[in-house]
Amino acid sequence: MKNILFAFRDTILAFCYRAFARPIFFRIDPEVVHDMTVRFGAFLGERRITRCIVRSLFSYEHPMLEQTIRGVHFQNPLGLAAGFDKDAYLTSVMGAVGFGFEEIGSVTGEACEGNPKPRLWRMQKSEGLVVHYGLKSQGSQKVSERLRMKTFSIPVGISIARTNSQDTIETEAGIQDYLKVYQAFSDSGDYYTINISCPNVFGGQPFTDAPRLARLLDAIDALPKKKPIFIKLSPDLSEKEIDGILIVASTHKIDGFVCTNLTKERKGNECILDKNIPNEGGMSGKVVSEKSDRLIRYIYRKSRGVYDIIGCGGVFSADDAYRKIKLGASLIELITGMVYEGPQVISEINRGLVRLLVKDGYRHISEAVGVENRFSH
Ligand SMILES: Cc1cc2nc3c(=O)[nH]c(=O)nc-3n(C[C@H](O)[C@H](O)[C@H](O)COP(=O)(O)O)c2cc1C
Repeated sequence: MKNILFAFRDTILAFCYRAFARPIFFRIDPEVVHDMTVRFGAFLGERRITRCIVRSLFSYEHPMLEQTIRGVHFQNPLGLAAGFDKDAYLTSVMGAVGFGFEEIGSVTGEACEGNPKPRLWRMQKSEGLVVHYGLKSQGSQKVSERLRMKTFSIPVGISIARTNSQDTIETEAGIQDYLKVYQAFSDSGDYYTINISCPNVFGGQPFTDAPRLARLLDAIDALPKKKPIFIKLSPDLSEKEIDGILIVASTHKIDGFVCTNLTKERKGNECILDKNIPNEGGMSGKVVSEKSDRLIRYIYRKSRGVYDIIGCGGVFSADDAYRKIKLGASLIELITGMVYEGPQVISEINRGLVRLLVKDGYRHISEAVGVENRFSH
């Protein structure tokens, strides 16, 4: 009976989003809609009553979806990916929206305006976004102060990145910038993600190079470790580059990987861009889906399941999430699926996951992780 009510609620919300809200949003500049959504979400998160209303509209819980990973308890496996709540305004409301966790940021050492506008476009035919924010961030000091002394209803990951500036291009300056963010959040948040894969910054992605990554991780290892550390990878890396990163990770205190960030590859029939979109920025949504699956499969198999993987890229449905889980992801993140389908998609995916797990005879989500990607012991 309860399931029927949740299904009814989600169907009505999905209809309202697709028929009324999305057509209006999609006529407005995407960054304006993004900013408005963050302001509205922050308002909803401020009061208990509004949080309760949001919770009654969107949340869904099921014991089959609860997991404790690296000491952090997740109510469900679906998280908000980095980039939506860059400056940590939404930590009070995202649990009520139904997420099992959220990743704030990426936060950079210094405040940064990001790239000039326009810097966000929709690829409606490909169900994706082109992102050229350039790591807009209020900076580590201001964002960490916002989180200080706060308690969260869901785990909060801190995505840390190098400030997008000429001053951090040199390797040592870049490392110091990462360390500044790392230290600023030493007492808040539940895990770190080291973002070495932003496609839109000065100096490219220098820390995907194994020797430079080793220097960065040496510096981080020298500091006290209070929470799990993940590395966020680009879907455009070659196998040789990934192998180099895995070797470095194996000798440092790395707990897992986020697979993946945005892609820069504009090839393939699935990538349909309007003429007004410039040739810069990284793409999200359906064009990343297969690349993200490929990286999850590769890392899970190559590392023989020793890392926890957060699957991210083109998750629009329970089938998308389940596929990533069966390839080796323990957790899932998304942004673009929510933009195209509406916030009720979180509950729809979680409900769908329970249905798929039961159908396949599993009693708990952890039993399905990596089942279609087994390595021999
Ligand atoms: C508007 C926007 C901003 C983003 N900013 C960041 C960021 O600051 N740091 C980061 O690690 N990833 C960022 N990303 C990438 C997402 O976290 C995610 O890896 C990517 O969008 C693929 O997931 P999706 O297809 O579900 O959107 C951003 C994505 C979008 C759409």
